Amino acid sequence: MTRPAVLFVCLGNICRSPMAEGAFRQAAEAAGLEVIIDSAGTAAYHVGDPPDPRAQETARSYGAEIGSLRGRQLVAEDFRRFSHVFVMDHANLANARAIVPDDAISQPQLLLDLVPGREGAAVADPYYGGEEHFEDTWADVSRAAAELVRALQR
Ligand code: 4NP
Repeated sequence: MTRPAVLFVCLGNICRSPMAEGAFRQAAEAAGLEVIIDSAGTAAYHVGDPPDPRAQETARSYGAEIGSLRGRQLVAEDFRRFSHVFVMDHANLANARAIVPDDAISQPQLLLDLVPGREGAAVADPYYGGEEHFEDTWADVSRAAAELVRALQR
């Protein structure tokens, strides 16, 4: 089997998707799963930027180091390279769908569709919130990461 390639997508690529990348890398490593992992944003505002300090701090408190990540924008080529593309909310979904090429190997799907009982829900944007919002983000992305490891092990 070729190694799965998983891309996490949010708006800015400095809060939710780098946290999802960190949570999934941690869970995949713990499970011995060989997988390619990356993240991107639908917007270009934070291209080249490290994750928000609050996202870094929250991830670090759970043992995930994401400080070396840098923001990049989602491109059509991502749908040819990644076997799985998970978006955080419905705006990300609409923006991602708009650039899926005809020869895509994957389609964008909501991350929380992986979590029983949370299908159709969004990972809320913590950017304008406080520390507790980043705790909520970590809870959502780490729960989804655990489900994704289980799904890819089957
Ligand atoms: P993210 O959060 O999409 O989870 O990375 C945001 C980051 C930056 C902005 C909005 C959301 N912004 O407007 O700059």
